[in-house]
Amino acid sequence: KKVVLAYSGGLDTSVIIPWLKERYGCQVVAMVADVGQEEDLGEVRAKALASGAERVYVEDLREAFVHDYILPAVQAGAVYEEGYLLGTSMARPLIATRQVQIAEREGADALAHGATGKGNDQVRFELTYKALRPDLKVIAPWREWELRSRSDEIRYAQAHGVPVTATAEKPYSIDENLWHTSYEGGVLEDPWNGPDPSMFRRTAAPETAPDRPEEVEIAFHAGVPVALNGRRVELLAFLQELNALAGKHGVGRVDLVENRLVGMKSRGVYETPGGTVWMAAHRALETLVLDRATAHMKAVLAQRYAELVYDGLWYTPLRQALDAFVASTQERVTGEVRLRLFKGSVQVKGRRSPHALYDAEFVTFEEDSVYRQDDAAGFIRLFGLPVEIAARRRVQEGAR
Ligand code: ARG
Ligand code: SIN
Repeated sequence: KKVVLAYSGGLDTSVIIPWLKERYGCQVVAMVADVGQEEDLGEVRAKALASGAERVYVEDLREAFVHDYILPAVQAGAVYEEGYLLGTSMARPLIATRQVQIAEREGADALAHGATGKGNDQVRFELTYKALRPDLKVIAPWREWELRSRSDEIRYAQAHGVPVTATAEKPYSIDENLWHTSYEGGVLEDPWNGPDPSMFRRTAAPETAPDRPEEVEIAFHAGVPVALNGRRVELLAFLQELNALAGKHGVGRVDLVENRLVGMKSRGVYETPGGTVWMAAHRALETLVLDRATAHMKAVLAQRYAELVYDGLWYTPLRQALDAFVASTQERVTGEVRLRLFKGSVQVKGRRSPHALYDAEFVTFEEDSVYRQDDAAGFIRLFGLPVEIAARRRVQEGAR
């Protein structure tokens, strides 16, 4: 019997290793996903082994993350409940997919994760397992074990030789990757409490950010960022550099009360520095090149896309269909956007595209030749006809 566990190096997933062995009498293979969380993964590997893992895989998933998950979501304009840029939601199907691949290589018969029974993550992991290998057994220790508190876990860890690091009191549940850092739990559970300024890891406080604004220019080709400040750059490096720039200026913090898929509301604080700027730039360029009807339809679908990603439905026909729609809208999303970062804000200062539908010739208040103002009178007469008929009817009825 062999289980592949999605292992993070934290106390929870460390305790899971001896627990699985004890409860199921199985071997445990740990998979550590490098999704850009900038931890010492050598240490995480060592900790998995010290906790009793048979073998450890450390998988660099950063390129796949940015190309196959982040990029399509940005192009779709996916934002959950008007604020959450889905950093955790996108990473789960990626991690779970690699976990399944490793289970196949290892000939394992089960998959395990460290998500609790109250959250979204369990759904995202397990819907991915189901989509790819419905025959593999799923073990979610949080839904099974009798450990009820952090001190239970620490006691269990100490009794089973799991190294327990100094920070026994864990102030927040943190999830970090290339795209974002999220914080939940602890003092944040009271939505009236503001976040402690020292909590943030990757953005400056807006009030201590530089007093001088900084301009960035992003070039896109067919919806894909290709240059930053005039320099060609690969997508992964693009996001990393943009994270640093935006973080320096305190851009990308949000504080939300969100609706979890599993019914309850939760309070989350997020830092998504580069992503916030990338999405603003992308949206600005789309305003130039997408026609009105397509843009409006895309906004409706963006919300649907966000929901689907949040709900763990990555591997579904709907996502594929939405991706196809989005792909066709991206063909002409080519051009440059200029933005200004300043004390927590990002402002679009300019945009241009060879495919712009925007045309100063048409919109100008100056003398023009393409637009005949007297056409507008007939247009308004017909467009407003239902309004006019209804109003006339009301007047007649009032007279009666
Ligand atoms: N609420 C966010 C989401 O559902 C973030 C979850 C963070 N997960 C975690 N294991 N800390 O996507
Ligand atoms: C968890 O419950 O494991 C984290 C939060 C979430 O999944 O929503």
